[in-house]
Amino acid sequence: MAEKLNILAINGPNLNMLGTREPDIYGADTLADMEARCRAICDTDGVVLDWIQSNGEAEIVTAIHQAIGNADWIVINAAGLTHTSVAVRDALALFPGRKIEVHLSNIHKRESFRHHSMISAVVDGVVLGFGAMSYVMAIRGILEIAKESG
Ligand code: DQA
Repeated sequence: MAEKLNILAINGPNLNMLGTREPDIYGADTLADMEARCRAICDTDGVVLDWIQSNGEAEIVTAIHQAIGNADWIVINAAGLTHTSVAVRDALALFPGRKIEVHLSNIHKRESFRHHSMISAVVDGVVLGFGAMSYVMAIRGILEIAKESG
């Protein structure tokens, strides 16, 4: 494992369209805006942040595999795959580091098909409903835990 704390943020399908995608639900920030906020926090703390987005389930599964031995934490907004993907769940289950599930919206307040997450049972924590701030909260939480554990 690298000496610096290493976080991999994974963003699933359609999140590349944030900014114009249903702004009443997801807000006006783009994914690049969210990345910039998280990167600013990580840079200040000397943390390595890898940030990826993919519309493909296979790419996300492969990214999780590649994180083994390379990342300490995964922050994942699996987007629509949250509710459907056994493959993403299984990949997260085999990742030995810690994992935080993130959603911009409160999925429990929305359509019933969004109420169930395939991945919640295999992650350490979930942050949802804070819009772009959900990512920031996940990253800040990780950094606090890292500081406490020295
Ligand atoms: C989402 C919620 C999902 O239900 C949806 O499919 C998304 C975004 C969120 O961040 O609120 O694409 O993960």
